[in-house]
Amino acid sequence: MGPSLNDMPYFSEKLLRWYDEEGRELPWRGTRDPYRIWLSEIMLQQTRTEVVADYYLRFLKAFPTVRALARAKQDDVLKLWEGLGYYSRARNLHAAARVVADALNGEFPQTAEELRMLPGIGPYTANAIASIAFDACLPALDGNQARVLARVLAWDRPLDTPFDLYEQAMERMPQDRPGDYNQALMDLSATVCLPKAPRCGACPVSDACRACRNGKQLAYPVRREKPPRRIEERTVLLLLSPEGMAYERRPASGLLAGLMQFPNLEGHLSAEEVRAWLDSEGISCEPGSVTPLPPAKHTFTHLVWQMTGYAARLEEAPGRFRYAKSTAQLAFPSAFRVYRQIAEQLLSGAYTAKTHADS
Ligand code: ADE
Repeated sequence: MGPSLNDMPYFSEKLLRWYDEEGRELPWRGTRDPYRIWLSEIMLQQTRTEVVADYYLRFLKAFPTVRALARAKQDDVLKLWEGLGYYSRARNLHAAARVVADALNGEFPQTAEELRMLPGIGPYTANAIASIAFDACLPALDGNQARVLARVLAWDRPLDTPFDLYEQAMERMPQDRPGDYNQALMDLSATVCLPKAPRCGACPVSDACRACRNGKQLAYPVRREKPPRRIEERTVLLLLSPEGMAYERRPASGLLAGLMQFPNLEGHLSAEEVRAWLDSEGISCEPGSVTPLPPAKHTFTHLVWQMTGYAARLEEAPGRFRYAKSTAQLAFPSAFRVYRQIAEQLLSGAYTAKTHADS
């Protein structure tokens, strides 16, 4: 047996020594100002460090303190955020700055628990800020840091959330440098313990890593097998009436609640069955106008729609549907993307021209 993660001083000492020498030089490092640390952690949510660096410096130039940010106009804050995405982060940041500047007299809350009460600060960000700015011994575990620990420990249970390794991370935290320890894990996960191609030769703790020792780095973290997605077959109808393309609103609850859709039926129907359905519903279409369309597929989290489609020309516009000369401004979900494109071509006459030209 070589050294292991359980040998905490060995692991954390090696990690911190590596961080001191090889850690990334990032503009938010080396400060203890909670405002700056908070700003960096919010910007780093779902955004890569290289992208954040410039935004962070520009933002601080415009708003060097929490009071300056609190006084800012929301439009000016959003303007500086332009291109970073997830704009709710900017709105929450601004709202939180006002809470700190006004209700808390400019003093940042110092515990993770209190930090979590501010808009936009979840458990990960609260622990990151509290550990970096206030030396709180709390792990900041996201999927990346959890990957490092899962490998080092050869953690063979599936991770539902990175916080499943919270106790393990907590137990091994050095009391004197928790913020550096968290950031060392972040840097290791970003530059060495990479998801698909870990650079174990450059890793300061590879000799304490069970996965590396067994040559099984890519087996961790173990993922929970998802139940297979249910397959639902549907037949989508592009019914072109003198008033435009027929569409309807989906039910107010359930999948894609309240969004728009083309009329569609359960199962993969033949042209004959579509004609029979139209008949049974009293919808009269031009003879011979029921034409098959290409199939399409859309994958939801738990469900797959396998769609076929038909176009048909209606002689009139039955009151049960709504009609549009263009679907561009309507709230159709992307599940209907393919049929929406065809619908636009049908509305402009391009689809018929194309199919005729092809035949
Ligand atoms: N990602 C989230 N927080 C970070 C930090 N403090 N340093 C580098 N990457 C991060």
